[in-house]
Parts: sequence; structure tokens; C-alpha cells
Amino acid sequence: MSTLDLGVLISGRGSNLLSILHAIGAERLDARVRLVLSNRADAGGLVHAKARGVHTAVLSHRDYASREAYDEALVATLREAGVTWVVLAGFMRIVTPVFLNAFPGRVINIHPSLLPAFPGVHSQAQALQYGVKIAGCTVHFVDSGTDTGPIISQTAVSVLDDDTEETLSARILSAEHTLLPRVLQWIAQGRVTLVPADENRRARVVIHQEE
Ligand code: GAR
Repeated sequence: MSTLDLGVLISGRGSNLLSILHAIGAERLDARVRLVLSNRADAGGLVHAKARGVHTAVLSHRDYASREAYDEALVATLREAGVTWVVLAGFMRIVTPVFLNAFPGRVINIHPSLLPAFPGVHSQAQALQYGVKIAGCTVHFVDSGTDTGPIISQTAVSVLDDDTEETLSARILSAEHTLLPRVLQWIAQGRVTLVPADENRRARVVIHQEE
């Protein structure tokens, strides 16, 4: 078991960040949030972090000439804060190999669909438009694609006949708040192993039983 030194990247409300902070407070998650980093100064999650005494930083992508230059600045800020694992929790930016190579196999993302269905944005609306009966959320390692990295865990929720984007999103979000801290605790416990791709299968994740 090791205490995770987390950097949490956000762009908005920060309810998943709060679920991490609650889990740490309740001793369900062995981690410290070293830094909450946002690309937007108006992200609501920054207020939650500051109210709980968590260090925050804002780096606007608009201040950088390229994605790579922005990612170099993100990496430097995260390293300076002592971050060793990165959580994309509603961070609405694509990260480049510059970022991924700085934290190899140590960047995870939460996404509001059962990947590989409905990657990208407005996943809950995509699910409703398609007419699926089961939706959900996914926590996965980040690779250089959009929501394509190896899946660590998923939670399914029902889609109800009278769901709107709002009601379905709320049901999925509630599942996200349980799933993300749980996966992070598995990582802290050393139970998450990335198995490399072979000729039959893409890279995948195995979760070991608790000892
Ligand atoms: C969450 O639903 C998360 O899954 C989603 O943004 C929301 C952030 O909410 N992420 C993505 O869509 C990434 N493609 P939060 O700011 O309240 O945690």
C-alpha cells in the first residue's frame, strides 16, 4: 500500500474532485491531493479545493502557442507540487504525448459512458439519441487517443424511458462518484496491473484480489 500523490485536473464543477476529497477524509482512499489544476479560472471545483485547503493552480491553454507547450507547463506545475499520479476529472482538454510521457501509465480519466461507446463530448446525450437501455461511466488509463485507453473499471446504470439528458447525467454522475475513488484506492493498494498488448488483444487492465 502506498499513499498516492494526486494531481487532479478539472475544467468545471469539480464534483468528482469532491468525491476524491470525501473518500480521503473518510479514510476510504489512501491519497493526498497535492494540486488541483484547472485550465479555466472560473471552474467551480477550484472553490471546493480552496475551501478545503487544497493547493490550486490555473493554467489557461490560451496563453500557450501549442498543445505541447501547454502540456510542458502542466507537467512542470504538477511535478513541482510533488504529483506522481494524475486524474483527469472533467478536464475537457486532450493531453499530448508530452504529458503522457511525463507520467507514464499514471494518468487516468473518468468518462460518462460505457466506453468504447460514446467517446468525446455530450456522451449522455449521445446515449439517449442512440436509444441504448444501459449507460454508465468508465475509468481508464489515458493514451494518445480520445477516450481510447485501457479500461480499468466501469459501472452501468439503467436508461429510463422518460430520461432527459439531465436525469441520465445525474444518474451517471452519482455512479462516477463511487467508481473513481474506488479505482484510485485499488491503485493505492497496488491491485491494478496494465497487461501489454499481444497479437490477439489490445493492452488491458487486470485487477488483483485484495490480500
Ligand atoms: C463528469 O461527468 C465527467 O465524467 C465528465 O465531465 C463531468 C465532470 O463533472 N468528463 C468528460 O466528459 C471527459 N470527456 P465534475 O466537474 O462535476 O466532476
